[in-house]
Amino acid sequence: MPAKRSSPTTTRRTTPVSRRTTTTARRAASSGTRVPGPSPSSDGHGRTMSSQPWLHQKGVELQAFGTVRQFPLALSQDSRMMSCQLLTQTLADTQILYALYKKHHWLMRGATFYQLHLLLDKHADEQLELVDMIAERIQTLGGVAVGDPRHVAEITKIPRPPDGAEEVPAMLSRLLEAHEMILIGAHEGAARTAAMGDDGSNDLFVSDVIRTGEMQAWFLAEHLVDTPLVHA
Ligand SMILES: [Fe+2]
Repeated sequence: MPAKRSSPTTTRRTTPVSRRTTTTARRAASSGTRVPGPSPSSDGHGRTMSSQPWLHQKGVELQAFGTVRQFPLALSQDSRMMSCQLLTQTLADTQILYALYKKHHWLMRGATFYQLHLLLDKHADEQLELVDMIAERIQTLGGVAVGDPRHVAEITKIPRPPDGAEEVPAMLSRLLEAHEMILIGAHEGAARTAAMGDDGSNDLFVSDVIRTGEMQAWFLAEHLVDTPLVHA
């Protein structure tokens, strides 16, 4: 939830208005346009009223990435910190897997285009659900979930694919390898969170990340079995 800020309708307006004599205000003044911000009027009780949003706001970073806040969850700081680190790796890798699924959903081709186009989109949707669950688990533990794709790219261990289109079996193999990397991390995460007593994170690793990943890997792997289509 965003930090509560003073509304433009409160009496706190003298300082912000003067503070807004900044680049935006100077630029607006030189161009002859109106400065975005509340136009004051009074409601007759000494309160200023305005429906103009406060635009172009900047703020301080409230919590640094890689830190955890104190939450009363019956889990130690060390436990929550370790879980957040494990979950962060899985979150970044899962965001990349989601993106890989969408890329290959779009770039699919050949005789099995239709079924793979649909299957990869279904898997992408399921991975996106996992992204949200993992991110919110990190927030629940007091951490900061990685969200910006450029930050995700710095964290993930999944290799970057070529920008162009690969052959279909190579696309599927790439997805399978990404799945296995996530599963290795999830098994480690499950064991370490269990050892530290973080049952909620353990459950997320086992019931969601591992179960979903294993099932999706099975569906992909069956498309790489070279079976005759007509003659036995
Ligand atoms: Fe689509």
